[in-house]
Amino acid sequence: MSDAAPDEGSEALSALLHETRQFPPPEEFTRQANAQPGIYEEAAADSEAWWATQAEQLTWDRHWDKVLEWDLPYAKWFVGGRLNAAYNCVDRHVENGRGDKVAFHWVGEPEGEARTITYADLQRMVCQAANGLIELGVEAGDRVAIYMPMIPEAAVAMLACARLGAPHSVIFGGFSSEALSGRILDADCRVVITADGGYRRGVASALKPNVDQALEQCPDVRAVLVVRRTGQDVSWTEGRDVWWHELVDRQPDQHDPVSFDAEQPLYIMYTSGTTAKPKGILHTTGGYLVHTSTTHRLVFDLKPETDVFWTAADIGWVTGHSYIVYGPLANGATSVMYEGTPDAGGRDRWWRIIDEYKVSVLYTAPTTIRTLMKWGEEYPDAHDLSSLRLLGSVGEPINPEAWMWYRQYVGRNRCPIVDTWWQTETGAILISPLPGITATKPGAAMRALPGISAEVVDNDGTPVGNGEAGFLLLTKPWPGMLRGIWGDPERYMETYWSRFPGSYFAGDGAKKDEDGDLWLLGRVDDVMNISGHRISTTEIEHALVGHPSVAEAAVVGASDPTTGQAIVAFVTVKGHVVAVGEEGAALVVELREQVAVTIGPIAKPRQILLTPELPKTRSGKIMRRLLRELATHGEIQGDTTTLEDFTVIAKLREAEEG
Ligand code: WTA
Repeated sequence: MSDAAPDEGSEALSALLHETRQFPPPEEFTRQANAQPGIYEEAAADSEAWWATQAEQLTWDRHWDKVLEWDLPYAKWFVGGRLNAAYNCVDRHVENGRGDKVAFHWVGEPEGEARTITYADLQRMVCQAANGLIELGVEAGDRVAIYMPMIPEAAVAMLACARLGAPHSVIFGGFSSEALSGRILDADCRVVITADGGYRRGVASALKPNVDQALEQCPDVRAVLVVRRTGQDVSWTEGRDVWWHELVDRQPDQHDPVSFDAEQPLYIMYTSGTTAKPKGILHTTGGYLVHTSTTHRLVFDLKPETDVFWTAADIGWVTGHSYIVYGPLANGATSVMYEGTPDAGGRDRWWRIIDEYKVSVLYTAPTTIRTLMKWGEEYPDAHDLSSLRLLGSVGEPINPEAWMWYRQYVGRNRCPIVDTWWQTETGAILISPLPGITATKPGAAMRALPGISAEVVDNDGTPVGNGEAGFLLLTKPWPGMLRGIWGDPERYMETYWSRFPGSYFAGDGAKKDEDGDLWLLGRVDDVMNISGHRISTTEIEHALVGHPSVAEAAVVGASDPTTGQAIVAFVTVKGHVVAVGEEGAALVVELREQVAVTIGPIAKPRQILLTPELPKTRSGKIMRRLLRELATHGEIQGDTTTLEDFTVIAKLREAEEG
């Protein structure tokens, strides 16, 4: 753990903690919401029985014998139960006569490009893709890497894997070839599904070259299935590369799903931890599907016949897995899936999409809300947003200003906002208001959901009182929880279960306000949150030190008004290297590129400061809090490349050590 103790976060937040501004649930919700008062008590009385009731909403081929088997730190849910995730997400809706219902309104980034995919379409597509994967030799248990843009085939690829019991590992398209090969090797994936490229920020970007380069390190990958999305030229490895339209389109559009054990691995999702190596978070089938579908139904108050649900996230992150694919599809919902950026085709693109498809629930990240806010309310104001009835936020603490803007200009003061706290590891939402029950406060995630046990504790593990801050723990297992870190059981135990024995340590600080409601305060470890994306300081330091001129690097997250945190790197160079003037500036450019190549463009530091030394404590520990301070408030604003004013450091060091 780092030196960062949980604090009260931004000044604005702490000021508001003492305000009593609350918004009661609107009457429409108190009357009709899926979750009604009494649900918390009911779940608390017997949480396993409560989760079992939720599980009945899925279709099981074999009923479970036991709801939970808990052998710390390993949980098994719905033990003995058997089901097929893809059948639950697709086929059963068709069998129930809902084949014509739209599963996805897909909106491409280029204007005017759209596809409507019904559940019957999806069933055909998933069956064909599954048959294609079988032809490529994919069997239950094989890992398949997916590196794709936001196109329907990405969801189809995931579901085809799930149908075959082959765990997928989706890697966000913004990751570099090096990051890609690391993940492919770690999970020993034998097949990769990708596309020639995708549309992003108005241009066709390429994906296939990254795959080609990554696979130079991955000799065991035997097949690459490539969707033609942009039509750009790609290089081709005969015998390995196969076009999706050549292989999948000629497959039979029927495939009999077989059922798998509830604990069959469903997917691996890599996320940043506190070391240089990302963790492969493992999720399994039954509990995950129960948890995602239940939370989708209760938190977003899903009315499957009338709602149009839009999770504006990428399938490459867990939010896309749980609330674009598995949760909504298990519930038979209609979703919007949008390929591009919020300003492609104009800064009102999102509002046009909401109006055109009559989106009723919008779920996005605070960083995007802040960007939309910066562009100005004239954009949402110019559109009919009356279809919206509920708004959600995820990925980082939402500052009260952004919350209020979201409420006023997007929700037009009508729509409740659910601020949902969860993690890649938790699989689905754990802390959030319920729209028909919970009054909301701008910036607070409020309360653990029914069936979830959370606590805020001090350093010794003692629960804090109201008005106090501490570490967020989950004190009981939950159905969507990770089942481990791929290939690294020790790290699993060490990271989550050893700091506070018996409980899951989330790595987040939290505060209970005077009413006992929960406010999330951000990470307490060396993980940064940049625009809602988790990035490890250590991973970037590692990338920087990989450059021949670098002696040492320290990376911190500085507060940033738009992205939440911004990456700032302090770098010392080797003796012979000139780190001033033009040469220094050139080195900074090289180092930024080094990070982009090693991890991906999303990890490029906002600022790199070349400094003759790194401030350290007497015991030699880098003083990160000092660096964070300096990066946020220091006299180093602008694109300064050299940290010259060491009186600043001296002063800060005194403060920190004294
Ligand atoms: C942060 C994203 C405050 C938190 C689903 C967590 C949040 C990390 C919230 C997980 C929220 C997520 N309020 N902080 N509503 N939601 N976080 O794995 O620090 O990408 O530990 O999962 O994001 O990020 P991950």
